[in-house]
Amino acid sequence: MKTISKKIVLVLGANSDVAKECMKQYLSKGFHVIAASRNTEELKNFVTQNQEFSTQIEVVYFDAADFDSHQKFYDELSEKPHIVLYAAGFLVDNQEALKNFEGTFQMMKANYIGAVSILNSIATDKTNKNLERIIGLSSLSGVRGRKSNFIYGSTKAAFTQYLAGLRQELAERKIIVNVLVIGYINTKINEGLELNQSLIMEPDYVAKFVVNAGNSFTIVPNWKWKIIYFILKILPESLVAKLP
Ligand SMILES: NC(=O)c1ccc[n+]([C@@H]2O[C@H](COP(=O)([O-])OP(=O)(O)OC[C@H]3O[C@@H](n4cnc5c(N)ncnc54)[C@H](OP(=O)(O)O)[C@@H]3O)[C@@H](O)[C@H]2O)c1
Repeated sequence: MKTISKKIVLVLGANSDVAKECMKQYLSKGFHVIAASRNTEELKNFVTQNQEFSTQIEVVYFDAADFDSHQKFYDELSEKPHIVLYAAGFLVDNQEALKNFEGTFQMMKANYIGAVSILNSIATDKTNKNLERIIGLSSLSGVRGRKSNFIYGSTKAAFTQYLAGLRQELAERKIIVNVLVIGYINTKINEGLELNQSLIMEPDYVAKFVVNAGNSFTIVPNWKWKIIYFILKILPESLVAKLP
């Protein structure tokens, strides 16, 4: 018989394909999951599809872009989390985002501003003695500015840096902060994009790195992406400028 853990995972942007795989893995480990998304109908379908875990999962409404609602959202949580996963993300084609600020702004809101807004509330609540870990899903696009995706990339770079500082801020309280620096995943955010098939990861594969996150700040799933990550980090700007 499975032991039900009393630990609570709050998943922000829970309708993400990666987040759903993370939730399945947390649920099967016995965690209680608070699944937060702007599409609660879709999350209810997720609960129906995972009926065996229905008593361990709670669905709540959360819009990363509605900053004014965040404090109330956090205050009203049925229980305060042990683990927080920020999975919301938005992607608009770079050329489109360059011409249309609305697309740029939406990426800023979902990928960065919304994350900072809600995570600030969570991180500064010293009354929550449960909190032990905050995990953010960031991207290799945020490692270097490249002409094909620097607007999305800049929101992810900002998110990564925020998490790095947050980790330092929370270290005294023994709260761990991890950033997943992720390459291509087979999820709906990439629909319609032509990506190098040999580099695409499945959401359940990436989810394993989230659910089993240890003490390291940066986690780069997959050895091929690890190599790309380290090359990108050290590549001179003149060579980065030659990349797509
Ligand atoms: N797929 C990749 O190749 C890749 C690579 C690196 C990093 N990432 C990051 O990984 C995370 C998960 O993405 P994914 O690959 O699982 O794609 P996904 O299935 O498209 O998930 C992204 C989720 O973000 C949610 N979202 C967007 N704006 C939101 C808002 N204002 N409030 C609440 N939720 C919002 C979307 O919700 P709705 O369903 O309601 O639209 C969607 O479910 C994202 O942060 C993404 O940037 C993905």
